[in-house]
Amino acid sequence: MYICICKAVTDKAIKQAIANGADSVRELKAQLGVGSQCGKCVCQASQILHNELVKQ
Ligand code: FES
Repeated sequence: MYICICKAVTDKAIKQAIANGADSVRELKAQLGVGSQCGKCVCQASQILHNELVKQ
């Protein structure tokens, strides 16, 4: 599922980046571009981030 439409970033890609060490929305933005345009995806991206970090 696409989380960030602007940059065509999927939840899978976000989870992969987190598994590879991304631990902040800023990091996800730097790596994938999430939230770098309209910003609508930031809330959902940070939710995924939180869920994944809790699992680690
Ligand atoms: Fe992610 Fe627009 S949907 S920046």
